[in-house]
Amino acid sequence: MVEIRLENLRKTFGEVVATDEVNMVLEEGELSTLLGPSGCGKTTLLRLIAGFYVPDRGKIFFDDKEVTGVPPHKRNTGMCFQNYALWPHMSVTDNVSFGLKLKRVNGMKYTKSAIKRRVMDALDLVHMGDLGNRHIHQLSGGQQQRVALARALVIEPGVLLLDEPLSNLDAKLRLEMREEIMRIQKELSITTVYVTHDQHEALSISDRVAVMDLGYVQQFGTPREIYEMPQTIFVADFIGQCTFVDGVVDSVGETIQARIPNDQIVTGKTTIENYPFEVGERVKCAMRPEDLHLERRGKTDNEITGDVYRTIYVGNAMELYFKVGDVAAQALLGPDTGLRIGDKVTLYAPQSEVMILPVGGVEALRKIPGHPMSTSAPPTRVPANV
Ligand SMILES: Nc1ncnc2c1ncn2[C@@H]1O[C@H](COP(=O)(O)OP(=O)(O)OP(=O)(O)O)[C@@H](O)[C@H]1O
Ligand SMILES: [Mg+2]
Repeated sequence: MVEIRLENLRKTFGEVVATDEVNMVLEEGELSTLLGPSGCGKTTLLRLIAGFYVPDRGKIFFDDKEVTGVPPHKRNTGMCFQNYALWPHMSVTDNVSFGLKLKRVNGMKYTKSAIKRRVMDALDLVHMGDLGNRHIHQLSGGQQQRVALARALVIEPGVLLLDEPLSNLDAKLRLEMREEIMRIQKELSITTVYVTHDQHEALSISDRVAVMDLGYVQQFGTPREIYEMPQTIFVADFIGQCTFVDGVVDSVGETIQARIPNDQIVTGKTTIENYPFEVGERVKCAMRPEDLHLERRGKTDNEITGDVYRTIYVGNAMELYFKVGDVAAQALLGPDTGLRIGDKVTLYAPQSEVMILPVGGVEALRKIPGHPMSTSAPPTRVPANV
């Protein structure tokens, strides 16, 4: 098993900064996902780990071995590309055995029989043992996906890298293959980096999720951490649903109070350890729709009043859209509220569920003392000879 450590990575393409200031430790045997919108740098980061790109700056370690300049075929990584990259005119077996024929262990090639056995094992693992003689163009999308996975696994890699492996599959097959990947990953205990832009997929499959935006990893944590303790507005918005109401900090203590439109005061918590909130600072009061209720549940609950402008009945619940001043907000209520468009509504949110978040993404992270992105932070790793 391999631990992957990324230190202060940066990769540019001409003017484009594809990814920057990436500091992460991907634990051995875990499945970590890179999650974020199109163009945020997921593939770039994965290719840096694979060795297809050399970073402009920073270092990559597999365990204690630095691999920053090591070419891909010497890193013992198995990779599934965003578009599979299978050879359509070749058989399943030939596709899967290709990498193995090139591989040397201690300078020795694999024997024909060893290759045959390993290919069979890899195809069995992805439940494709019977289709080895088929050509790729005779396979369905899901089957091609399995072949791509078998090809990545056959070399018995220390690290498995999967770039949106399910993006070409229909919903049902996605689910099925997702379970398969999880099964295989756990069975082999192989350190895996999985790229997706689907937050639901990321939450369901991952031990840890790195949420990326504009080339930066804004947060790296367990699914529960990133949902319950988002470190930036972007993370809160990208993971699950969130209502954001603009506010200005009124007081900072055990809790944080912020003034929101129409002179209402909201009291909430911070999800960011050590963030130095200041009175007068512009913030966002973030609430999950399920944390806004029609009835008061605790003495200290926040009271938020707004005007209903839309209701959507979704069977077992009602999505309520309302405006607080100019700000649109959303709540998830029971199906029988009787609320109508134009009604004034007062909703209650427990203080423990309201998250007060600073405005900005990376700029806000830089203000946290000791954060790797804070300019005052010491270098992440001091060389041994200093
Ligand atoms: N070879 C390249 N040459 C120039 N620019 C590139 C190259 N590869 C990526 N980029 C740019 O770098 C940024 C990050 O691209 P990347 O492919 O890593 O994004 P991504 O998160 O994988 O997106 P997607 O979800 O669409 O696959 C984008 O702005 C992209 O246009
Ligand atoms: Mg990509």
